[in-house]
Amino acid sequence: MARTATLTYGDKKIELPVIEGSEGELGIDISQLRDKTGLITLDPGFGNTGSCASAITFIDGEKGILRYRGIPIEQLAEKSRFIETAWLLIFGRLPKKNEMTRFSDRLTDNAHLHESFRHHFEGFPVDAPPMAIMSAMLNTLACFHTEFLELEGDEAFEEATARLISKVRTIAAYSYRKTSGLPLVYPDPKLKYVANFLHMMFSEPYKQYICPPEIERALNMVLLLHADHEQNCSTSTVRIVGSSKANLFASVAAGNSALWGPLHGGANVAVLEMLEKIRRGGISAENYVKLAKDKNSGVRLMGFGHRVYKHFDPRAKILKSASDQVLALHGAKDPLVDIARRLEDLALNDSYFVDRKLYPNVDFYSGIIMKAIGIPVNMFTVMFAIGRMPGWIAQWKEQHNEHESRIARPRQVYTGPTLTDYIPIEQRT
Ligand code: CMC
Repeated sequence: MARTATLTYGDKKIELPVIEGSEGELGIDISQLRDKTGLITLDPGFGNTGSCASAITFIDGEKGILRYRGIPIEQLAEKSRFIETAWLLIFGRLPKKNEMTRFSDRLTDNAHLHESFRHHFEGFPVDAPPMAIMSAMLNTLACFHTEFLELEGDEAFEEATARLISKVRTIAAYSYRKTSGLPLVYPDPKLKYVANFLHMMFSEPYKQYICPPEIERALNMVLLLHADHEQNCSTSTVRIVGSSKANLFASVAAGNSALWGPLHGGANVAVLEMLEKIRRGGISAENYVKLAKDKNSGVRLMGFGHRVYKHFDPRAKILKSASDQVLALHGAKDPLVDIARRLEDLALNDSYFVDRKLYPNVDFYSGIIMKAIGIPVNMFTVMFAIGRMPGWIAQWKEQHNEHESRIARPRQVYTGPTLTDYIPIEQRT
């Protein structure tokens, strides 16, 4: 029997359908609420609002579960690679061998940027933030691939997907080279996705960067763990922009801007800055935690807390042990790791964090791994963008293929002045 929820307001009583997801999640469908009662719901930050039904990613924040298309993140982190996981997210199942080969070939064929892009890169000042360059260049891609502005059919979609996933990495590497005053390095078709990215980042015209397999694997894992996270801030942005039927390039460029914020993708930079501040002796770990608990300080313990995870973030768990392996490879001890562990220990034993269910999130350890690989701190959020691209594309595709999707247009509860007459300027006091 179909379940319903009953809402009573004044003398009105209405039945609202209850929708059940495949993992037993329940949601009250309020789409008829305003028509039937004149009321809307108010949910700032959307903490209780389901904006869509989606078959891509499942999260159980209480149990610390994350699955892409049903497959646990732990299995993917151990057995898959970023590109295979990207295909899984976008096309709904693991690719067969021939499908994987075709997609990999497409990525290789599309790694280069149109030569005119050089002029665009030339125009940026040397201290331009790489995330600003990324947003601008994702939009610029739309100028060079106008044939993909209307995406109809699987073939066109796969080609556009390959272009975006391949070129986002080239744009990222070029933004680093440009802002470091280094010559741009062309992609090498012999290299796989991650190794090719590191080649474009770190090779010199006279000396090719050779990527150690452990580094390639660790970065694959970092990207894979960021590949999707259901309706987070940037993905919701992609869907909102996409709901106006804006093209894929414009939609992901908007998502990239949302990712830039320090409460979202920018947190990985903020974590490193926090650890560095403590290392330089500006403040002790103990005092930093104290400050983070003080609401008037405006300080938060960066890399801690999550809107959805109220037990632990499974991605942080995987990255914590991966960071041990990457650092062991270098044979170096990074003092930032000790500081991170100290902060984690302090917070996990402090009732402020325990009571609010604040645990380390993905950003707490990803920065340590990226730093060990040699990726500069101002590129961390760009790395997140490379990782999240398949998720943005998958979510845009899912929405695009829905026949009944409507433009996103939330309501509001108005709290401004009531009817007020215009006063000519000479009469204003
Ligand atoms: N340090 C100190 N207090 C915190 C923190 C923190 N990192 N996070 C949350 N709180 C407190 C907050 O002040 C509030 O306290 P109270 O109930 O007394 O008012 C309570 O915990 C609930 O916080 P909230 O702001 O309502 O939680 P939210 O779900 O709106 O925000 C968050 C989630 C991730 C934005 C937040 O935890 C935060 O700002 N964390 C630090 C930034 C960070 O690491 N962001 C990366 C998120 S994971 C990657 C991604 O998805 O982008």
